[in-house]
Amino acid sequence: MPLRVGILTGGGDCPGLNAVIRAVARTLVPFGYRILGFRNGWKGVLDRDVEPLSKDRIAGILHVGGTILGTSRTNPRKRDDGLDSCAKCIDGLGLKALIAIGGEDTLGVASELFDQFKSPVIGVPKTIDNDLCGTDQTFGFDTAVQIATEAIDRLHSTAESHRRVMIVEVMGRNAGWIALHAGVAGGADYLLIPEFPEPLEDICESLRVRFESGKRFSLVVVSEGATLKTQRGQTGEVYMSQKTDEFGHKFLGGVSNTLSEQIIQKTGYETRVTILGHVQRGGTPTAFDRVLATRYGYHAAQMVLQQKWGSMASLQGTAITDVPLKDAVARTRTVPRELYEMAKALYG
Ligand code: F6P
Repeated sequence: MPLRVGILTGGGDCPGLNAVIRAVARTLVPFGYRILGFRNGWKGVLDRDVEPLSKDRIAGILHVGGTILGTSRTNPRKRDDGLDSCAKCIDGLGLKALIAIGGEDTLGVASELFDQFKSPVIGVPKTIDNDLCGTDQTFGFDTAVQIATEAIDRLHSTAESHRRVMIVEVMGRNAGWIALHAGVAGGADYLLIPEFPEPLEDICESLRVRFESGKRFSLVVVSEGATLKTQRGQTGEVYMSQKTDEFGHKFLGGVSNTLSEQIIQKTGYETRVTILGHVQRGGTPTAFDRVLATRYGYHAAQMVLQQKWGSMASLQGTAITDVPLKDAVARTRTVPRELYEMAKALYG
């Protein structure tokens, strides 16, 4: 049987996924491997839905957003014998390795497959949220920050013309990385991120000080998972929906509408909301993300050759290395206080 390696992309899509697929295939094919792509994440493994990734299929995809394999938030642990079925699929197809490209959910499944079945899995860290603890940066994050920064830049002029408060809501789930980076890059006047809830009074006071000092606008960047600190020091959570996905995550989005109403009520300032949503995940990756994704893909291929099962390619400083999958998904990587304090020090 020819040497076979499977590859899948799971969870929310993200710019750079195709660059990883291309790098894995181009690196391994000269060693005699055939690459099989599972469609739609773990769903493809459960359904045995697989396609050969020929030379032609992976040509011209480096700069293309999304994933040529499709993705899903299917969680095999939610199916009867789901993990067992995945392990059997890997064995049945005679895969030397399965490369899972995903965030904490997709890689959490890979980690369990290794722990329980010793399946030859390798992880590659993706997510625009940049919240994976096993690496210094996930690919896709840079593109999302770039898109959000461009939006903030554009909102400045219209905010100033109308003497308005502009609230820009960005993604990131329970980590404020996108808000922090885009906020700092775009010169935000206030940041609200999940890690450090602030009282509404503080936001309003900050807006008042700016307007009274002669500034004609204020830009507030809000992370979709942010909450307000209440008078009792507790935080209140505002979700768009109470529904959850198969990994138990609530659907976020819309917190800035509630914030806007509260700001208007308290200050009377004209306030508008822009929710960037999935535009942050769409389209072509930045050059930085293409290179990072390619480095991850190349390294994952080396890990196959070295049989480093149960590990994830990881950026440590400027070097790509690898870490145990188990450690990589152990906790969410959140914004540290010192970075947040730096952003606050720059409010003007
Ligand atoms: O994890 C990536 C992410 O874009 C989050 O920032 C966001 O909360 C979520 O996915 C949105 O998921 P969906 O594409 O299922 O709406």
